[in-house]
Amino acid sequence: MESRSKAHVSWCILLEITVAVLFCSNAQAAPLKITLDTYRNCIDGSILSFSVSCCPGVELDLNVTVVDFIPKRDRLSGHRIRKALQCLTGEELRTYTEKLTRAYELMRALPSSDPRSLHQQELTHCAHGTGSFVQDGLKADSNFTLDIHSSWIFLPWHRMFIYFHERILQKLLDDPTFTLHFWNFDNGLDGRTSSTEGCSEPGHFFPGIYNDNSTSTFEPSRSNRTRVLNVPIDLTFPVMFSEADPAVALRCVNEAVPRNREAMHLAMQKGRVSRDFFGIPFRYGDVRPPMLVGGGSLEYFPHNSLHDWVGGFMRTPLRATGDPVFYPAHANVDRLWDVWMKLGDGRELLQPTDPDWLDAEFLLWDENRVLRRLKVKDVLNIADLGYSYEKVYDASWIFWQNSTGLVSSAMAPTQP
Ligand SMILES: *[C@@H]1O[C@H](CO)[C@@H](O)[C@H](O)[C@H]1NC(C)=O
Ligand SMILES: *[C@@H]1O[C@H](CO)[C@@H](O)[C@H](O)[C@H]1NC(C)=O
Ligand SMILES: *[C@@H]1O[C@H](CO)[C@@H](O)[C@H](O)[C@H]1NC(C)=O
Ligand SMILES: *[C@@H]1O[C@H](CO)[C@@H](O)[C@H](O)[C@H]1NC(C)=O
Ligand SMILES: *[C@@H]1O[C@H](CO)[C@@H](O)[C@H](O)[C@H]1NC(C)=O
Repeated sequence: MESRSKAHVSWCILLEITVAVLFCSNAQAAPLKITLDTYRNCIDGSILSFSVSCCPGVELDLNVTVVDFIPKRDRLSGHRIRKALQCLTGEELRTYTEKLTRAYELMRALPSSDPRSLHQQELTHCAHGTGSFVQDGLKADSNFTLDIHSSWIFLPWHRMFIYFHERILQKLLDDPTFTLHFWNFDNGLDGRTSSTEGCSEPGHFFPGIYNDNSTSTFEPSRSNRTRVLNVPIDLTFPVMFSEADPAVALRCVNEAVPRNREAMHLAMQKGRVSRDFFGIPFRYGDVRPPMLVGGGSLEYFPHNSLHDWVGGFMRTPLRATGDPVFYPAHANVDRLWDVWMKLGDGRELLQPTDPDWLDAEFLLWDENRVLRRLKVKDVLNIADLGYSYEKVYDASWIFWQNSTGLVSSAMAPTQP
């Protein structure tokens, strides 16, 4: 575990592998498939030039039976609505804060041999995101490993992961109606703009529920940016290659909001082809995709920029899921995928229909410590998973037309 202390490696990795290698794909393409053998054959992964050790199986019993997960059959309760955190008020806010902090107290207290512990949630994402899992049957070198970033796997895998995380929170609270509300970081309205329905309060401030240093949802490694009053998230924050937390001037609301709206507009605009929004294909036999090349338009800005702006654990795939704010942030990324599918102009037709995407298969632990098998095609309809998202004022960025050009140049990744 010694190498995990080098955790302050940027979320974004060097382009270790050339673009040429990226397009060298296996002639016998097939869907990616994680099996018990993948878990058992886990190796040290890598990020930048560091070796990382985060195989979940070191502490977990892998002599288990995998059970298929069938969303409609395995739903726990009625339909749940994931709400925008900034619009919770009064009694609802009080109750939610109590439950959320209680759930993370319980999750942090689980032994590290429990796959539901926050520690194991951290290792699960780390192993999937640092090339620790070798594609079954292929040479155990860093080429034929897996990464759940920088390809069309990014959106569906993270949907699965936070869905099971939410079920674990429900189980720990013994409350199947408990819902993972989202950080509506893209909503840069000032609250004075009226919308006829839903939540139109600004969502760009670091969510207060996660920012009380006396509770279990707090993570002290976060950048002090997250604690400065009235400073919103900067979705154009540089996605850096360096290890240090960059000293970037704070942007106040009047400066950050136009930039955030423009960044969101660019991320959500209609792509010409599927990979613009979803990312490049990643199939069995392909080499691990290099970061900052193959991801879809949500992945670098706003997703990576958010991770880097929050800082601390959130800056690196090794530790990001050990910060409880990872989950409401990713619930919003998940929501943005759902919103994008309904924006029209033929966007929904760009969602991949390739069987190598639809049948890509993953294993994740559920709330009863059972390892569940599910495919990308099982999670494409969130109603089947029993949840939807509260309506918020997405017009914050949909109708943005005043491109200054400042943002798109700021959004080019910078070399070290
Ligand atoms: C795995 O579990 C089965 C029964 O659950 C047991 O018979 C077997 O010995 C176990 N194998 C190992 C390697 O522990
Ligand atoms: C990955 O593949 C490339 C090209 O085939 C090869 O040069 C390199 O040595 C491989 N990496 C490892 C760690 O084996
Ligand atoms: C916790 O936050 C309060 C303000 O909200 C601050 O005064 C205090 O110094 C913080 N404690 C630690 C240990 O950071
Ligand atoms: C945040 O931390 C940096 C150094 O890491 C320091 O220079 C800066 O003054 C701090 N800002 C606040 C508001 O505490
Ligand atoms: C775009 O800029 C013009 C001129 O600066 C301004 O009048 C208009 O309100 C802006 N539109 C939006 C959507 O912000």
